[in-house]
Amino acid sequence: MTGPKTVFVTGANGYIGTAVCRVFVRAGWRTYGLVRRPEAASALIAEEVTPLIGSISKDATFLEDLYKYTKIVNVVVSCTEQLPFGEHFQALVALFRKLASTSNQNGVRPLVIATSGCKDYGVTGVHGSPRLAPHTEESPLQPLDVIHERAFNSLEIFTHADLFDAALVRPTPVFGYDSSYYGLAFEVASAAARTEERALRLPLDFNAILHGCHIDDCAEAYLALAEHVDRTAVAGQCFNISAHRYDTLSSVAKALEVEYGLKGGVVRTFPTDANGMVPSLDLVLGYTQWVDSTKIRRLTGWSDKRMLLSENLHIYRMAYEEAAKRGHEGVLRVKERMGGILSSVKV
Ligand SMILES: NC(=O)c1ccc[n+]([C@@H]2O[C@H](COP(=O)([O-])OP(=O)(O)OC[C@H]3O[C@@H](n4cnc5c(N)ncnc54)[C@H](OP(=O)(O)O)[C@@H]3O)[C@@H](O)[C@H]2O)c1
Repeated sequence: MTGPKTVFVTGANGYIGTAVCRVFVRAGWRTYGLVRRPEAASALIAEEVTPLIGSISKDATFLEDLYKYTKIVNVVVSCTEQLPFGEHFQALVALFRKLASTSNQNGVRPLVIATSGCKDYGVTGVHGSPRLAPHTEESPLQPLDVIHERAFNSLEIFTHADLFDAALVRPTPVFGYDSSYYGLAFEVASAAARTEERALRLPLDFNAILHGCHIDDCAEAYLALAEHVDRTAVAGQCFNISAHRYDTLSSVAKALEVEYGLKGGVVRTFPTDANGMVPSLDLVLGYTQWVDSTKIRRLTGWSDKRMLLSENLHIYRMAYEEAAKRGHEGVLRVKERMGGILSSVKV
């Protein structure tokens, strides 16, 4: 087929979905993005993405709207987040099957790139621990209970080879712009900077490995898979997405200290010292995991370009605060998901 290729992105107003849409548009793809709230459509239009309004459910009708534009899709990228995951995933797959069936009838077999996360593998040791090794795509899945369903059900994406090819990606936590869950780190550091002591106490191991990836690089990895010349090498495969090297809590703490002028430091306390721990902050700053992304690098030539969180924290903080000031829906979504904990931050 000649001419521009077509991609359909679900969760198009989400953190990863927004970036994925942006990168495909800039690479010359016809890009359709699904949002479930009409008010989320204007941000897509501003990025030259064609919005489709609808919710993933077994009664969804938005495919009819998509067919008014196109009956073929080369690539589908799934970027929704919903817990519990099981029923949602079944609805997603049913829709992808319908879409793929139509596309096949019109001569194009799609590639579905589904998103899970590297937390599917559980944790690795901390920096400097004996026999420390990164998680690869071959590592066993050992997720926390809360994402257990996502980790295992996502693999089902490979069982629809009658209609579509599939790849499953597992990004590390991502940062940049509205910063997703790392926004929580900025919020607690900012709260600490407003105290007399100007100290942030964390009952966490400072050797914890914080292996992230900038959201732009992460989105480029999806594009690299979509554009890879050999579909057979992508289909049926899982791919980790991580930066070329990891930060540690120690390196991020140093950057936070400097950025927020924390004269009292970012200091380690111990779990028995209840003072200062923000619930869920351990998932952002204490979850130790080193993730290998050699597989996607070797196959596609993808490589991350953006600076690590600790290397460029000043501008990442500024971008986060600007997003928050503008009432960015991603910032609000993460704050809400974290259960209002930010209002009860004690530092
Ligand atoms: N953020 C990270 O650091 C990170 C890292 C690794 C993996 N991941 C994984 O990547 C995926 C996307 O993450 P994210 O951070 O981009 O999530 P996000 O910002 O919370 O976005 C989730 C998106 O899903 C949409 N959505 C949820 N249920 C839907 C439904 N039934 N129908 C249609 N849309 C629906 C939401 O729409 P509304 O705006 O209407 O709610 C939102 O646009 C998740 O599986 C996540 O676990 C995320």
